[in-house]
Amino acid sequence: MHELQRKRIIERHRDSLKRHGYHPHALYWSGREVQEIRFRVLADIGIAAGASVLDVGCGFADFNDWTARAGRPVRYTGIDLSPDLIAMARERHPELPLYIGELADGGFEPASFDWVVLSGALNEQLHDGGAYAHRMFLQMYALCRSGVAFNLLDGRSLQIHDLQSLIPEEELAFCRSITPRSKLVQGYLANDFTIYLYREPTGQSI
Ligand SMILES: C[S@@+](CC[C@H](N)C(=O)[O-])C[C@H]1O[C@@H](n2cnc3c(N)ncnc32)[C@H](O)[C@@H]1O
Repeated sequence: MHELQRKRIIERHRDSLKRHGYHPHALYWSGREVQEIRFRVLADIGIAAGASVLDVGCGFADFNDWTARAGRPVRYTGIDLSPDLIAMARERHPELPLYIGELADGGFEPASFDWVVLSGALNEQLHDGGAYAHRMFLQMYALCRSGVAFNLLDGRSLQIHDLQSLIPEEELAFCRSITPRSKLVQGYLANDFTIYLYREPTGQSI
C-alpha cells in the first residue's frame, strides 16, 4: 500500500475515534449487530475454544470479546494499521498481543496461527482492482494451519466511490487458485460476503 493510502486510513480512523469513542461507528460499522453477524460467520469456519487466531485489521479487538461471549474463547492476536485504535484496544486488553501495521509488518512466521480472520479491513478503496486484497489472501493463507476467513463488500449490489467492493464469484475463483478447498458464504447480510479457505487435512492422500 502507498504511504498516502496508509496515511488516509490512519487519519480516517483517528477522526472517527475522536467523534465516536469506543463504538462500532468508530470502525465505520453501522452498529454492533452487523459487526457481530460478521464475527459469527467468520467463526463458523470452525473456530473452536482454545484455537489460536490472528485477526487482521482488528480494530478494538472486539472479535476476541465476541468469541468469549459466544462460549468459544480463543488465543487471540490482533494487528491493525491504526495506532489510535490499537491504543484503545491495548487499554481495554493489556494482556493481548496487539500490533500496529499492515499484515506484512507483523513479521509472523508461516503457519503461526490455527486460523487467520479479517473483517472489514479490505473495504478501503485502493483503486487497484483488488490486487492488494489478493496479496493479503496469499499472506493470510501462508500464516494459517487450519484456515482463513475474511469478508468483503459485494460489488454486485454496492458501489460507493471510496469503498472497495468486489464480485463474490471472481474472488472465489482467485481463492480456488490458492486452494480448491475455498468456500463462498453469502446471504447473512445485504452487500457482504465471506470466503473460507481451508488447509488440506494433514495425513490424507488424494
Ligand atoms: C471496518 S473496521 C473493522 C475492525 C474489526 N475487524 C471489527 O470488525 O471490529 C476495519 C479495520 O481495518 C483496519 N485496516 C484497514 N486497512 C488495513 C490494512 N491494510 N492492514 C491492517 N489493518 C487495516 C482499519 O484501521 C480498521 O480498524
